[in-house]
Amino acid sequence: MEITSAEFIISNSRADMCPDTNLPEYAFIGRSNVGKSSLINMLTKQPKLAMTSSTPGKTLLINHFLVNKSWYLVDLPGYGYAQRGKKMMDKIQKMIEYYVLERKQMTCLFVLIDSRLEPQRIDLEFIEWLGENGVPFAIIFTKADKQTMAKTRKSVERFMNKLQEQWEELPPFFISSSEKKTGREEILDYIEEVNKSIASTGGMTD
Ligand code: GTP
Ligand code: MG
Repeated sequence: MEITSAEFIISNSRADMCPDTNLPEYAFIGRSNVGKSSLINMLTKQPKLAMTSSTPGKTLLINHFLVNKSWYLVDLPGYGYAQRGKKMMDKIQKMIEYYVLERKQMTCLFVLIDSRLEPQRIDLEFIEWLGENGVPFAIIFTKADKQTMAKTRKSVERFMNKLQEQWEELPPFFISSSEKKTGREEILDYIEEVNKSIASTGGMTD
């Protein structure tokens, strides 16, 4: 899919204040610093669209970006960054939960996983929670440029094997690097496919 336009629309802390439209939303979640905002910039080819930082805990709000005037990319705050303090963590957790569970326009949640790490309990628990709540999701393994593709593939295999212990059907997954633009076509094609399937079933309803 070609990206012809991408613009920032609004940031806020409440899912019920997000844009009042019926357009499908693709949201990015994962631990702080995993590369959510960088991936949004890579997909849209706008390096400064979403704010990124080498310090974890940069994104603190729900951020909507309108793409091709027809669907949204949504940048969410990261989970599991304890240095924020308990009060802030609770607030962010609630924001994430509310968005993920209540936002009708949320079409697919991309869960970002650092491709260099062993399966982390916090990610596995989050995915389990998505399953319990019937949330549609896909996985993106990030920062693949930081190691060889062989190592990344091993790491992906480990993670998917871990998921297989609990899931009969595995979610779609992608390997990405925002530095090298790896995975861009695949992720955008997937979004396009889902957009088409929504359109062919008569659009989103609420
Ligand atoms: P929070 O908003 O804090 O939750 O983090 P985030 O998940 O949005 O991460 P962000 O995109 O801000 O990136 C965190 C750091 O990782 C930055 O220093 C990025 O430059 C770096 N980074 C992100 N993606 C990649 C990647 O694919 N490759 C490399 N080498 N670095 C990356
Ligand atoms: Mg961010």
